[in-house]
Amino acid sequence: MSNQNILEINQISKNYERKIALSSLSFIVEKGELIALIGPSGAGKTTLLNLLATILQPDSGEVIVDGKPITQYADQKKRAKKIGIIRQQFDLVGQLAVIHNVLAGRLADWGFFKSLFSLFIPQEKQVAMKALERVGLPDKAYERTSNLSGGEQQRVALARLLMQKPEIILADEPVASLDPARADDILDMLTKIAKEEHQTVIASLHSVEYARKYFTRLIALKNGELFFDLPAEHVTDEQLQDLYQLKELK
Ligand SMILES: Nc1ncnc2c1ncn2[C@@H]1O[C@H](COP(=O)(O)OP(=O)(O)O)[C@@H](O)[C@H]1O
Ligand SMILES: [Mg+2]
Repeated sequence: MSNQNILEINQISKNYERKIALSSLSFIVEKGELIALIGPSGAGKTTLLNLLATILQPDSGEVIVDGKPITQYADQKKRAKKIGIIRQQFDLVGQLAVIHNVLAGRLADWGFFKSLFSLFIPQEKQVAMKALERVGLPDKAYERTSNLSGGEQQRVALARLLMQKPEIILADEPVASLDPARADDILDMLTKIAKEEHQTVIASLHSVEYARKYFTRLIALKNGELFFDLPAEHVTDEQLQDLYQLKELK
């Protein structure tokens, strides 16, 4: 049986020179949770996501992924099965056709050349077309990726994630560059797919409104520390005001 706790974050700290970005942070994530990371700019959200993505290493503390220290997932293939990342710039290759970018979801499994030539493997092409259908872009498969709008490119990134099928999806401000209608669309799709595939999501968000609408648990960071960690429906307006230190309108 696999572990119910897909992630355990144990007292991780991270400093940049003299600046404390995360201070002895701990929390546990169960499989299938949809977590929004919120908090003011500079709170440590990106640092935390980069630590979970192994782009950064903590100064102290430990991250346990599915029962094993994250450092034991040094093998890229094994790591890609566990953890996938959507970044703000989506990491798509603009000059390539959409379907190539989708097939790149298999990159860790296959290596670069097989991914590049995977268009000639009919089965894989079908899987990629299915992924594009699921995100509503089947007719764009052979378009140059850079010709697509921001919202469409974010859908391509989701289709690529469908090919990779990681157990944990990390997303740093996945909708920051989109207008509200597109942002709604992407978050709706991301959380729907994650539920269907029993994936766990941790996404940092600027908008508390989206966090409450699409996510089940809100983890608020402030100055590198846990400010609150609550089911979305339990978070009060007062707590949010304290978090962002908004002035009361009176
Ligand atoms: N590369 C870096 N060098 C120095 N300080 C950094 C660096 N990256 C982030 N910081 C600082 O660490 C803190 C946390 O930043 P970050 O994780 O980016 O927060 P958030 O994503 O919540 O805005 C901030 O005070 C930020 O200025
Ligand atoms: Mg950030």
